[in-house]
Amino acid sequence: TLIPPAPTRSAAKPVKPGSVNAPEGADPRVVAWVASVAELTEPADIVWADGTPEEYQRLIDIMLEAGTIVPVPKRPNSYLARSHPDDVARMESRTFICAEDADDAGPTNNWRDPASMRQVLGGLFDGSMRGRTMYVIPFSMGPVGGPISKLGIEITDSPYVVASMHAMTRVGTAALEAMRGTTDWVPAVHSIGAPLAEGEQDVAWPCNSTRYISHFPETREIWSFGSAYGGNALLAKKCFALRIASVQARDEGWLAEHMLLLRMKHEDGRVMHLAGAFPSACGKTNLAMLQPTIPGWKVETLGDDIVWMRPGEDGRLWAINPENGFFGVAPGTSEKTNATAMAMMEHDTIFTNVALTADGDVWWEGMTKEAPEGLIDWQGRPYDPANGPAAHPNARFTVRAEQAPSIAPDWEEAVPLDAIIFGGRRPTQVPLVLQARDWEHGVYVGSTVSSQQTAAAEGTVGEIRRDPFAMLPFCGYNMGDYFSHWIDMGHRLGRHAPKIFSVNWFRRDADGGFLWPGFGENARVLEWIAGRVAGTAAGVDTAIGIMPAEGSLNLEGLDLDAEVVDELFEIDPKAWLTELVDVEAFFGQFGHALPTGLVRQLNHVRWRLEHV
Ligand code: PEP
Ligand code: NA
Ligand code: MN
Repeated sequence: TLIPPAPTRSAAKPVKPGSVNAPEGADPRVVAWVASVAELTEPADIVWADGTPEEYQRLIDIMLEAGTIVPVPKRPNSYLARSHPDDVARMESRTFICAEDADDAGPTNNWRDPASMRQVLGGLFDGSMRGRTMYVIPFSMGPVGGPISKLGIEITDSPYVVASMHAMTRVGTAALEAMRGTTDWVPAVHSIGAPLAEGEQDVAWPCNSTRYISHFPETREIWSFGSAYGGNALLAKKCFALRIASVQARDEGWLAEHMLLLRMKHEDGRVMHLAGAFPSACGKTNLAMLQPTIPGWKVETLGDDIVWMRPGEDGRLWAINPENGFFGVAPGTSEKTNATAMAMMEHDTIFTNVALTADGDVWWEGMTKEAPEGLIDWQGRPYDPANGPAAHPNARFTVRAEQAPSIAPDWEEAVPLDAIIFGGRRPTQVPLVLQARDWEHGVYVGSTVSSQQTAAAEGTVGEIRRDPFAMLPFCGYNMGDYFSHWIDMGHRLGRHAPKIFSVNWFRRDADGGFLWPGFGENARVLEWIAGRVAGTAAGVDTAIGIMPAEGSLNLEGLDLDAEVVDELFEIDPKAWLTELVDVEAFFGQFGHALPTGLVRQLNHVRWRLEHV
């Protein structure tokens, strides 16, 4: 058995729309493709999602009935889902790029031969939806018909996925209508892999321990089996908007990136649009919702996870957040770290794997200093620290973008980018902020992003790992080619190119304390970046990039000793030269795919460090 092919311009044999419950007027190729998936997976019923509030309520009722979710009484229209304890996060080891040629997947992806993967998946999906409803979700990333938008269809047998897609994408009839007369949409199939036999009792979170999150970049297909969690199952997000879209972006001359997007504006009329790439657990959501501590400035949120960017007719780089909501990590979120996020979750939120309080509210580590009495943990047990944290470290909230008090009123429109920042969690060495000398140097800075491993993930805590452009788990092709694509984009943009910066909020002193207060105070760094873009802030060229000139970073009202400021910007040439050995080894794996521009930049930085 094979999984069916992606739709092509000339449809296979026509299928009667009524036989798969298709809405009137659906493109015949959409209908034929849905029929081919139904024939393989054998669902009991087929429902086409229309994206209406009534449909959302029906999904909620189905999940309440099945025990997949429970109400959160303290928050209107809010629910808690408890997943299977082995289905709690994206699984990079089960994520595959099935390009015809292994070189096109590159050294940083798990490659599988597409023909044999089609066979493996064919066996798994055969009858995998028996006894369940198959949902067909037409969706748009970006507003339907927008100049940077893209269409897709996710088929799934999980009502939790459908409800989440309602928040995270634009679901429904308008997207389906936009697919008429075109095959430029991404087919994505998801099954939890838990068919129900006649009369069999269902469980609250059905899933399968065999898991495949498979991408076919050449034919733009996604097939995901076994998991119902986050990026494994909401296929519009990481699978489409990053892995498949990065390939589309390479072929079509644009960029699909793992970035936040914000507007920072001053009362006096200054405006800056900034995109920022940070690995997971480095505060993208917090930065996107930042409340500046310095007077006159305000931040408007545009997006917190994914940015699509395209050169416009004016030569500038225009950006959108293709998503429709936020799927954020709950632990660590508090009134202090992100009051905006706390406000947006007061109602109409789906929480997953958080703890419940005795009085019917949600709780997670970091929300308050002390855990309240009488907690129920994320697995539904009375909280006992011996069992680990009350909320799973990867517990999530899912909300619509419009619920964020900081959301820009025009957040669905494209914005012209002024600045791009790259950051990670670096306890030593990397200064608070520096500007890349030019675009090619900026691509070098992006390609060498690295971050400290956190306790939430596998690996040695504290170990520094390279995560170029924060895209290591999300680039759908060879990252060496990806670096070249970025360099080419700079040639195309020329003097209109956004300025590129590196930031590090996480540098520590000898006693392990953070040197920089972070959070709202990060607005000071953004202000300097805005000044560099406008040509008003002074900088000093150093071996590793341009740093703020004495007095150009606004530290007014901050109680920081001069030595602390010096430490925040200290460059240790010896440590940097050692780091370059690691960078060189990292680059080495890309072989001939590594652009010469990055080798040139590496050699330049090394020469400068040796001659300080
Ligand atoms: C996800 O699992 O879909 C997800 C958003 O992942 P991350 O937060 O690690 O980027
Ligand atoms: Na079948
Ligand atoms: Mn992310």
